[in-house]
This record gives sequence, structure tokens and C-alpha cells, in this order.
Amino acid sequence: MQAMKVGLLGLGTVGGGTLTVLRRNAEEITRRAGREIRVTMAAVRDLEKARIFAADDMQLTDDPFAVVNNPEIDIVVEMMGGVTLAKELILLAIARGKHVVTANKALIANHGTEIFAAAQQQGVMVAFEAAVGGGIPIIKAIREGLSANRIEWIAGIINGTTNFILTQMRDQGADFTDALKAAQALGYAEADPTFDVEGVDAAHKLTILSAIAFGIPMQFGRAYIEGITKLTGDDVKYAEQLGYRIKLLGITKRTAQGIELRVHPALIPARRLIANVDGAMNAVLVKGDAVGVTMYYGAGAGAEPTASSVVADLVDVTRMHTADPHNRVPHLAFQPGTLSAEPILPMGDVRTAYYLRLRAVDEAGVLADVTRILADLDISIDAMIQKEPAQTGAPVDIVILTHQCLEKHVDAAMFSIEALPAISGKIARIRLEHLER
Ligand code: NAP
Ligand code: HSE
Repeated sequence: MQAMKVGLLGLGTVGGGTLTVLRRNAEEITRRAGREIRVTMAAVRDLEKARIFAADDMQLTDDPFAVVNNPEIDIVVEMMGGVTLAKELILLAIARGKHVVTANKALIANHGTEIFAAAQQQGVMVAFEAAVGGGIPIIKAIREGLSANRIEWIAGIINGTTNFILTQMRDQGADFTDALKAAQALGYAEADPTFDVEGVDAAHKLTILSAIAFGIPMQFGRAYIEGITKLTGDDVKYAEQLGYRIKLLGITKRTAQGIELRVHPALIPARRLIANVDGAMNAVLVKGDAVGVTMYYGAGAGAEPTASSVVADLVDVTRMHTADPHNRVPHLAFQPGTLSAEPILPMGDVRTAYYLRLRAVDEAGVLADVTRILADLDISIDAMIQKEPAQTGAPVDIVILTHQCLEKHVDAAMFSIEALPAISGKIARIRLEHLER
């Protein structure tokens, strides 16, 4: 059978890893796909840097449009990153009748709905397994393996860079900036690493997971996003003392009022498997009504782990290339036209538990004032510790863990407590997730 001809856009961390894996495992991949998958063209900006990948049967170009416009190419693989040019190239490839594979979560989270509609119309496939969880086949697991279930919630460590930074800070006492530099050198970080540390990259991935789990359109703009830059060493230490670990979590949950879509640091009981996912590893918990809680674990970033997902998509597309477009697995798991309009909940209406750290003057009545404010807002305390003052008369740290309550009540409580004369500075608030049912 004729080879499937592939054009790559980008030969950086992911593109380079993809070419390496395709070349190294060519024979096994052909046996799986049913025909050879041959890269015949690749586009980069810096041709000199890309010479290490040169081969007689692969043309290198610095014009990505030359790849997309090449009539010989069956599948375009976008691994350039960015949104504007990547979107233009992908829509052009679709218009030219080519299948598309992409690792670009920013693009899918922001423009997936438009891209899938264009692909649907042209009868071509757009595959994006590498966009979430690096090498973990989480899209396939939710879209196909769990298709019997009504998904109830998903919670995941879905950014390798921040998990790597948090692990380095906790285990090695590393400085935030040094840990970020190490993650960049290892190829984990985004071109703009603020996307990683401010939670934006995790929110892109969560938006995609939420869409395929609940059959809703991509709604990145409605996600609540909080990164790891405001976490302090004190909070990491107090959390450990209370039996918790702090992780950057992406959480999406179906409730009677709507869908939660939120990325933020969270305390997780240290005994949970997911609390022990360290370094650049990712893990995603998915709760289905039939299967219960399942967990998917693996490398969340880096050249070959991500290539593993890109190449799996290439094999899938090759296998399905000749199938009737109406009988392929739908891009967003649910048949187009059956997407639901369930609303995304505003953060104030989210119910969860909280870790609150406040700094107070060590004198009679302060705790009574604080607990009265909490009780008036129906916030019940689960645990509380008061740390020793650094020296006599110095302010003390009070750490409170609450039971589940409404976020807007916690907002109101924090406002009132911060206004008490005995309280200095801002209250540190970290959400707490038990992740058990
Ligand atoms: P990268 O290392 O910066 O590589 C980007 C590649 O695209 C380079 O080869 C670059 O060429 C090329 N490129 C960029 N703009 C171009 C243009 N206008 N014309 C031609 N070539 C262009 O990025 P990456 O880490 O591989 O990430 C690529 C995509 O995969 C992003 O969407 C990212 O979010 C996603 N992703 C990354 C990872 C990861 O672990 N890194 C994991 C999952 C998904 P030059 O080198 O010549 O500039
Ligand atoms: N920057 C991303 C991360 C790459 O650190 O997880 C993988 O998507």
C-alpha cells in the first residue's frame, strides 16, 4: 500500500522527538498502521539548526505554507506553537483536504470549535492527543475507553513545568527561578513560561478535557485560573505538617448548577497517589458513574513522551483515513450537533474546602473574632493550628482548614477578617481537595 506522506510544521522539542521516534520505530509503526508513515517535508525557521535532521527523502523548508500547499502531503503535523499562524496553517491544510495532527493546546482550547467544524465539513480528521498530558493517552481514554460513563469530575496535574518546580522547591529547597530555568532547559516549558507558572497552559488542557468529558464547547475564556507564583515556603511547610501536599490542579466537575472549570494550587491529602506524582510527571483522575475513579499517569512533557502521543495520532489517522467520515470517532467525543449548553459556574458558586493562613497579634479575643465571622457565613472549621511566635510579642501564623463551603462566603469572610485590627497583611487562601468520591 502507498505510504502516508506527512509534513511537519516545527522540528523543536516535540517535532524533533516525533521525527526521531518515527525513524527509530518505523518498522513497528508500519506494522501497526498498515502502511508506511513517511515524513517527506518539514518546516522550521532556522534551516541551519535543523540540518541534524536532514535526510535525502525529506525536504527542509523555512516556509510552512510550502508544506500545507504541497499536494503530495496527506497529513500535516503542527508542532510550531503560537496561535495566529498555526490556526491559519491548520485551516488551510483542512481546506486542502489534509488531515491534521497538532500538539497545540492553546490553539485547540481557543479555536477548537471552529477548527473541528471546518474539518467536519471537509471530511478530514484533526487529532490532538499530545495537547493534554504529554505522553498519557488521556484524550483517547476519555473519548473512547470511558464512553459508557457519565463523567462526574476530572482532576489532574496537567502541567509538567509547575509540578517539576514544586517538586524541586519541596525536595531540594530549590529557588523558584532556578527550578524554572531547569524546566526550560529540559524542554518542558512553553515558549512563554508565564503560561506554565500562571496556570494558563493547565487551563488550556483542562478546557479540552472538560469539552470531551461533558460534551460542551471549548470555553477557555470562562476558566478560573490561578498559578503557583504566590505560593510561599511557609504554606508548603504547614500543608506538609497537616498531612497534605500542594499541587497545581486542573479540576472540572459536573454539578446540578453547572460545570466547574478551575485551575489553582490545591492541598491534597499526602496519602493519595496523585499527591505523590512528582517532577514533570502528570496524572489525571477521572470519575465516571460506572467505572468509579480511574487514574492515568505518565510523562507530561518532553520530546519523546510527547512524540509518543503525536505518533499514536498519526497511526490512528492512517488507519481511519479510508473510513467513512460519518463513522469515525467524533473530535469532541460527542456527535457534532449534540453539544450541551450547560453553563460554566462562576468561581463564587464553587463549593470546596479551604486552607486559610492569617497573621495575627497574639492576644485574647482574636481567634473568637475570626471564628465568629466564619460561623456567621456558615463556614465550618475542620482543623486549626496556631504556630509559635518567632519571638515574644511577634505576630503568629494561624492556619485554618474548613469543611466544604461556598467560595463567595469565603471571599466575604476573608474581607471581614482582613479588616480586623489584630490581623496583619493578606490572608493566604489555598483550596483543599479530598479527591475521594
Ligand atoms: P519549540 O521547541 O520551540 O519548537 C518549535 C518549532 O517550530 C521549531 O522547530 C521552530 O523553528 C518552529 N517554528 C516556529 N515558528 C515557525 C514558523 N513561523 N515557521 C516555521 N517554523 C516555525 O516548541 P515545542 O516545545 O516543541 O512545542 C511545540 C508545540 O507543542 C507547542 O504548541 C507546545 O505547546 C506543544 N507541546 C509541547 C510540549 C513539550 O513538552 N515541549 C508538550 C506537549 C505539547 P526554529 O527552531 O527554527 O525556530
Ligand atoms: N509546558 C507544558 C508542561 C508542556 O510543562 O506541561 C507539555 O504540555
